[in-house]
Amino acid sequence: MQTNDAEQSRMRGRSGLIGKCLFPVAGYGTRFLPATKAQPKEMLPVLTKPLIQYGVEEALDAGMNTIAFVTGRNKRAIEDHFDITYELEDQISGTHKERYLQSIRSLIDQCTFTYVRQTQMKGLGDAVLTGEPLIGNQPFGVILADDLCYHDGDGILAQMADIYARYRCSVVAIEEVPADEVSKYGVIDGQLMPDGNIRISNMVEKPSPEEAPSNLAVIGRYILTPDIFRILRTTPAGKGGEVQLTDALMQQAKEGRVIGYRFKGRRFDCGSIEGFVEATNFFFSSMGSERS
Ligand code: UTP
Repeated sequence: MQTNDAEQSRMRGRSGLIGKCLFPVAGYGTRFLPATKAQPKEMLPVLTKPLIQYGVEEALDAGMNTIAFVTGRNKRAIEDHFDITYELEDQISGTHKERYLQSIRSLIDQCTFTYVRQTQMKGLGDAVLTGEPLIGNQPFGVILADDLCYHDGDGILAQMADIYARYRCSVVAIEEVPADEVSKYGVIDGQLMPDGNIRISNMVEKPSPEEAPSNLAVIGRYILTPDIFRILRTTPAGKGGEVQLTDALMQQAKEGRVIGYRFKGRRFDCGSIEGFVEATNFFFSSMGSERS
C-alpha cells in the first residue's frame, strides 16, 4: 500500500542515517492474561499478522533493516516467527497456501535479526539500555509493537527518520489524547516551531490530569541518539519503581535535543483490549477478508 514516493524514499534508504531499530519486547503483557501466560503479547494477531510483524514492516519501510529485539522469558515464539519453519514450509510448498507466508519470508530475506535478553523487567529505560550491545554508537529507531501504527503512505517511523535528518537529535512521536487519559502516557511540554514540530522542554511520565503539562502524549515510536545509553546508565528508578525512558529523554530535552513530531496516520493502543478490538475492526474493514 505504499505510494510511489514512499517506495522511492525507501529505495534510497530513507535518510540513510539510521539502519537499526530496537524492539523492547520483554514485558509481561499482564493486561492480556490469560492469553499472554505462555505466549508473548507481541505475537497476538491483528487479522493474520502478529503485532510484532507490523512493527518490523514499519521499521523496514523506514530503511532500518537490522532488527534488535530485547526479549525475556517466554518470548521464543518471536525468534521462531522470524526464522524458517522447515516442516511447515515443506508441507505447503507448491500449494496455494504458500502465498500466506510471502510477507514474513520477505522480511526474513531483507532483515537481520539480533537478540539480547533482559533478565529483570526493570522498565522500558532498562530494556533500551539492555539493547546497547546490539545498537552501538549510532542513532536508532525504537518501536513498541503494541502501539500499532498505520498510514497509507510513509510509515510513522519513516516520517520520523526524515525529521531526524533535519534536526539530528532524538525524535518522539506525539499525539493529542483526552485529558482523562494522560496518566497512561509520557506527556510533554515545549515550544512550537514554525514547521509545526515541538522542541520539548519538559516530559512527565504518567502524570495525573492535574500534573500533566499538556495533553500531548508520547506514543511508542522513537528515534534516539546513542548518548541515551550513557544517560540511562545513571538514571535512577522513577515512576512505578521502573527505569523510565522518559526520565532519560528529559535529560536530552533540557539541552533542547528532543523534537516532538505529530505523526500522520493512526495509532491503535493494542496493549489495551479496546485498542486491540479497534485495530482488528479497522484492518478488517480496510482489507476485508483479503489476506495481508
Ligand atoms: P508496557 O508498559 O506496555 O508493559 O511496556 P507490558 O508488560 O508490555 O504490558 P502490561 O502493561 O503488563 O499489560 C511497554 C513496552 O516496553 C516493554 C514491553 O515489552 C512493551 O513493549 N518493556 C517494558 C520491556 O521490554 N521491559 C520492561 O522491563 C518493561
